[in-house]
Amino acid sequence: MSTSPSIGIIGAGHIGAAFARALARRNIPAILSNSRGPDSLQALAQSIGPSIRAGNREEAAAQAIVLVAVNWSKLPAALSGLPDFGGRIVIDANNPIEAPLFKPIDLQGRSSSEVFAALVPGAHVVKAFNHLNPRLLSSDPVERGGRRVLFLAGDDARAKAQISALIDELGFAGIDLGTLAGGGRLTQFPGGPLPSLELVQFG
Ligand SMILES: NC(=O)c1ccc[n+]([C@@H]2O[C@H](COP(=O)([O-])OP(=O)(O)OC[C@H]3O[C@@H](n4cnc5c(N)ncnc54)[C@H](OP(=O)(O)O)[C@@H]3O)[C@@H](O)[C@H]2O)c1
Repeated sequence: MSTSPSIGIIGAGHIGAAFARALARRNIPAILSNSRGPDSLQALAQSIGPSIRAGNREEAAAQAIVLVAVNWSKLPAALSGLPDFGGRIVIDANNPIEAPLFKPIDLQGRSSSEVFAALVPGAHVVKAFNHLNPRLLSSDPVERGGRRVLFLAGDDARAKAQISALIDELGFAGIDLGTLAGGGRLTQFPGGPLPSLELVQFG
């Protein structure tokens, strides 16, 4: 097992499960949660791998690193009533758009991660794992001898260093885009120039 910090995942749909698969590939433990409780996730967690366990939202949110991948309009409910994050890291893997209408959300000039950050008081927010489709996120990151690129953005250097290390451990190449407000916008969908770009770093 890995010596990485403990990881919780809120949202076990396409992106939450794809992230769990990327962790399971390296035997990194994580707690996977959704709105319906652990019983609804036992089979999925088992199918992903032995390092992944079904838990509830509160357990997932209590880990050192918490990835959130929930439909945009459901984020306030998914994050409500949780204790202050107290300087722990929350990964924002979300985008401000939703099936089936895919209508852009009015963010009133803010980046979606700035809006997200207001929902996770006390957290060091790092935007990451939001620019690729779930198939690529859960696939082997080694591509023709290079490493598939993942982007990250955030305002806390220590938090970004930890997520860079995790990205590296998963076998991807991390590229730091800068601040949440600036770099975060580059991978934001819709609006940013980087979503869905499948880039591979050689060397
Ligand atoms: N799909 C993509 O290609 C893609 C790519 C990049 C980024 N994203 C972003 O990633 C986020 C998730 O997308 P997705 O495609 O993974 O969505 P999804 O497949 O619909 O999954 C959403 C997950 O959120 C959970 N959830 C909803 N309300 C919750 C609550 N109150 N508490 C805890 N969990 C709750 C759902 O659990 P229940 O089923 O139990 O309600 C479900 O597991 C979105 O912000 C999306 O924009 C998606």
